[in-house]
Amino acid sequence: MLPVDADSRLALLKVEYPAVPETELILEPGLRARLDQVVSERDRLVELEKLGLDPTRSLLFTGPPGVGKTLSARWLAHRLGRPLLILDLATVMSSFLGKTGSNIRSVLDYAKSSQSVLLLDEFDSIAKRRDDDSDVGELKRLVTVLLQEIDDWPSNSLLVAATNHGELLDPAVWRRFDDVLEYSAPSEEQSIIAFRNTFGETDTGFSDLFPLLAILWKEKSYSDIARSAKWIRKRSLIAGISLEEALLENFGKEMKKASGSERKFLLPFITNSSISDRRLSQITGFSRDTIRKYRNSRPVEAD
Ligand SMILES: Nc1ncnc2c1ncn2[C@@H]1O[C@H](COP(=O)(O)OP(=O)(O)OP(=O)(O)O)[C@@H](O)[C@H]1O
Ligand SMILES: [Mg+2]
Repeated sequence: MLPVDADSRLALLKVEYPAVPETELILEPGLRARLDQVVSERDRLVELEKLGLDPTRSLLFTGPPGVGKTLSARWLAHRLGRPLLILDLATVMSSFLGKTGSNIRSVLDYAKSSQSVLLLDEFDSIAKRRDDDSDVGELKRLVTVLLQEIDDWPSNSLLVAATNHGELLDPAVWRRFDDVLEYSAPSEEQSIIAFRNTFGETDTGFSDLFPLLAILWKEKSYSDIARSAKWIRKRSLIAGISLEEALLENFGKEMKKASGSERKFLLPFITNSSISDRRLSQITGFSRDTIRKYRNSRPVEAD
């Protein structure tokens, strides 16, 4: 029986089984190796046990939004062939604390008894709630219980906590976890891989524009990139325009915002395109004259 809230009878957990990662997980090699290790350890429990060692039982994922924390938890559940249970701590923490405590306990008990991957999402919520002074004692007790649970987490289960605000957590909290993985926004190269993955087979003919994407996507998360890529594909279909034009349309707004020197830098990529001067000017805000001048000044490529 899935744990439910005592009053509302609403499920406290979101269950994904089988857990299916929605896209290929792109990670820097260091993080990838650590996740692989967590999976490999579970395959070699007997050998570990002979050495008196436990497999990794608890992980903390920190990093900005949209960089693969939830996706990694799903990937782990998938690789381990286990259900992914997601508890959003921000939601349970928003109800009154007596109830919060019993809800959290019933979720932890359920997760411990089922071979699963439990994701405690928005884990910083336990550190943030400071609204009502009368609650402080009770809150402290709740946090203590939760941390104790992490310490004692059974090795047949796997607990993953995720937060956008690792800095809000006490260093003492970090130490409770077997491993802490710090996620970051994609590098230029990673953002292009993410973009290509979203396009799959339909990716034809605009790889010339990839350097432009890398510039415009500085600091963007994987989830921003996935969203833009989907928008571009839909726009191309609905408006009956090329993917290249939809892509430039999508970036037109950002191009208009870019600084003077950035814009100069972007110009060659744009004028490489097969779209008309007039349309390019509309999309990007460069004047037709500028576009034309730039195009004409380029050496004509031989066939
Ligand atoms: N490392 C990654 N590799 C490939 N795609 C990614 C990656 N990270 C994020 N994405 C894309 O962004 C979407 C959202 O990612 P995810 O849910 O893992 O973010 P998150 O780090 O958990 O963010 P939040 O802190 O907002 O919960 C994914 O569905 C996927 O499309
Ligand atoms: Mg998430």
